[in-house]
Amino acid sequence: MKGIILAGGSATRLFPLSKAISKQIMPVYDKPMIYYPLSTLMLAGIREILVISTPRDLPMFEELLGSGEDLGIRFEYKVQHQPNGLAQAFVLGADFLNGEGGCLILGDNLFYGQNFSAMLQRASSIERGACIFGYAVKDPRAYGVVEFDSQMNVVSLEEKPAQPKSNYAVPGLYFYDNTVVQKAKELKPSARGEYEITDLNKLFLKEGTLRVETFGRGFTWLDTGNCNSLLEASNFVATIQNRQGFYISCIEEIAWRNGWISSEQLYNLGRRLEKTEYGQYIMALVN
Ligand code: G1P
Repeated sequence: MKGIILAGGSATRLFPLSKAISKQIMPVYDKPMIYYPLSTLMLAGIREILVISTPRDLPMFEELLGSGEDLGIRFEYKVQHQPNGLAQAFVLGADFLNGEGGCLILGDNLFYGQNFSAMLQRASSIERGACIFGYAVKDPRAYGVVEFDSQMNVVSLEEKPAQPKSNYAVPGLYFYDNTVVQKAKELKPSARGEYEITDLNKLFLKEGTLRVETFGRGFTWLDTGNCNSLLEASNFVATIQNRQGFYISCIEEIAWRNGWISSEQLYNLGRRLEKTEYGQYIMALVN
């Protein structure tokens, strides 16, 4: 399965910061925001990744991430000219996917928790249908919302409902089989003028092939869409890292633990950053 990171347009809630720099380049504590979704794809075992962003911001991602060779990954890049909705990622990514299934992750979503890798690997091995997730939040009105019956079967999906039918928000992480491009092309823009990911998920629901897994309360999903949530995410990462000594979303470490780069390559990546704690952490992994 291939992966797509959508690091796109609608960053206005971080204005004026987003006037100067892409939100997904901004730091969440000690690393660029995009490292967090990138690490999720890597934990799912995905090594071919398309980064989609605006004409202004895409060059910054190319400069930051390069070809991916250093990490045993292959990156491609694609411009989204207008923020026309998440589902458009699959229309823009049609050539990249080239008949394969795809996982989409949003550039501002941060996931952290025990057994996450196993969940990701299960989701990325689906052959037919789609796998999305549900996560209980206090106020789900800003999200896609999934409603379950008493057997935890999906009853409905709604995008940003004024009166949510449950507290389960749908995080920005979606796994689809190879029918996704064709389904994405069938969609019509919603009332807010976007090709909605929720409408895409509804097509799989209608077909009877949508699986929704829930994350429990011990799991962390944060998005970083406004100044408060950005600060909270930074504090969260700092708290865990400083307590445990393990880094969250250190992409070099994950590439190494996945066996995509050697210990020597890892050490050299750390040495390039040896004046930073991040670089020293990487070097210490192989010492
Ligand atoms: C988007 C999706 C929504 C999803 C959310 C997750 O919202 O439309 O269904 O729950 O991402 O972060 P948006 O970023 O467009 O507000």
